[in-house]
Amino acid sequence: MMNSRTTSLLIFAFFVLVSSSVTTAFHITKILRKYPEFSTYNHYLIKTDLQSQIDRQPNITILAVDNKAISSISEKPLNVIKNILSLHVLHDYYDIEKLVKVLTSKTAIFTTLYQTNNGDPVSLKGFLEASMVNEGEIAIGSAVLGSGLTVKLVKPVLSHPDTISVLQITAPIIAPGIGASSPVKVPDPDN
Ligand SMILES: *[C@@H]1O[C@H](CO)[C@@H](O)[C@H](O)[C@H]1NC(C)=O
Repeated sequence: MMNSRTTSLLIFAFFVLVSSSVTTAFHITKILRKYPEFSTYNHYLIKTDLQSQIDRQPNITILAVDNKAISSISEKPLNVIKNILSLHVLHDYYDIEKLVKVLTSKTAIFTTLYQTNNGDPVSLKGFLEASMVNEGEIAIGSAVLGSGLTVKLVKPVLSHPDTISVLQITAPIIAPGIGASSPVKVPDPDN
């Protein structure tokens, strides 16, 4: 006869096994809730439903901006905000160490969720570029030619190795063609 302690340990072990085989390994919005300085960013992940797409990835890197920095895009329509934020989600896991390793002696190009959602490999709109600058600083920007490495890495926020990494950057990356503030003019119905 098993005693009840053994039984509950077995039940516990069973649930650990079951839950580790479920594809969703994390909930981005739950993770970010612990960081009030990213509450607006988190709010937009929910409003645009990018959160559910993020949660389905096996591994991911989020470039987050704090509440103050994100205010520069908060006047934009929600679909534009969604496009902008999807450019801030890199496929694959990069913590600072891995980034530094990748960027040592070269620039690198990263694929984003924007690319996955809008696939247009020619313009490079859905890709980010990063490089080491100055004394070991990491600069990031749109990979579109001539757009420049417009933001810098501030600090790592959190990482779950090989699954999710959240890195803070100085400001949102506004790529050419992603985040234009003027919507297409609706023709005057009287004409
Ligand atoms: C992330 O997931 C992709 C797709 O499953 C895989 O090819 C890649 O090796 C993974 N990267 C890491 C760091 O686990």
